[in-house]
Amino acid sequence: MAAIINPRKVAIVGCGFVGSASAFALMQSGLFSEMVLIDVDHDRAEGEALDIAHGMAFGSPMNIYAGDYSDIDDAAITVITAGANQAPGETRLDLVNKNVAIFKSIIPQIAERDYQGILLVVSNPVDILTYVALKLSGMPANRVLGSGTTLDTARFKYALGEHLGVDPRNVHARIIGEHGDSEIAAWSLANISGIPLNDFCELRGHTDHQRNMDRIAEEVKNAAYEIIKKKRATYYGIAMTVKRICEAITRDEKPILPVSNYIDGEYGLHDIVLSMPAVVGASGIEYQVPIKINETETEQLKASAATLRSVIDKLDL
Ligand code: NAI
Ligand code: 2OP
Repeated sequence: MAAIINPRKVAIVGCGFVGSASAFALMQSGLFSEMVLIDVDHDRAEGEALDIAHGMAFGSPMNIYAGDYSDIDDAAITVITAGANQAPGETRLDLVNKNVAIFKSIIPQIAERDYQGILLVVSNPVDILTYVALKLSGMPANRVLGSGTTLDTARFKYALGEHLGVDPRNVHARIIGEHGDSEIAAWSLANISGIPLNDFCELRGHTDHQRNMDRIAEEVKNAAYEIIKKKRATYYGIAMTVKRICEAITRDEKPILPVSNYIDGEYGLHDIVLSMPAVVGASGIEYQVPIKINETETEQLKASAATLRSVIDKLDL
């Protein structure tokens, strides 16, 4: 029989750079009262649990420990960050075979427990692995999502905020599609608190729109390569992204976030997972928000989906 979900419990599978930074962010968030860390390297999970617990006196009290899959049963959210990360120069898609093999060892252990919580996939390539998690688990599509381009969107807001001298929280702009090289900056919908982007740029003395847009979109797309070249891995930005998505679910906040979600029919796309805006709340993906992107962006979105589809078609699921 399925366990009763504890809304204040989170599980993290994979305690490397991303898993431990996410655990640290979640410990400080006050969202959860119990957190279990799971890793093939159990000592690693124990070490991280102990280290993070020592900050608790200055953070939010919670029960944090290293465990195994039996501890996941009643977790409201299971965050999966297990798997290889990129070496300098490697793309996210280059990780697919290694990480699908890892998911084949993880997902069945969760599914066989008739898990009733929400799976939040972070490991890369995140759109493909969210699709793999969905297919291997047999869970409903609303309860299997990926962090997707929520991180890229945060980077986009940051870059635009810096360019315009405005709080990134007032930047309404999104990256959609693959979390990776075929991602799309949805410029046609971008605005600064309701003011059309180009009008705001001119207000701030910027007139070379196309050149600035190309530069910012490239910077955002290549941000992870830049960081990995300098310090081996990215983890703080994604940790805050994990916290934001957990917050949306745990508090049933219903923000519109560009998370990796299952798309079958919308935008002319079929049987694919990629990032398009969705309302995220207590039941995971509550509903997809149809956005009206322009023709060029629609073509780019189809190309992004085709890139992901060609990778999925080679998988043995
Ligand atoms: P890491 O190498 O530091 O950690 C990976 C952890 O997974 C290790 O502790 C390892 O022991 C564990 N692991 C491996 N196989 C496992 C299994 N079968 N069960 C449980 N644990 C297992 O890597 P890092 O930097 O933490 O990255 C993790 C993943 O997150 C990578 O795929 C990376 O590309 C991805 N990532 C995704 C982001 C996103 O925006 N979606 C952002 C940053 C990283
Ligand atoms: C990131 O964008 C590598 O997917 C990871 O930081």
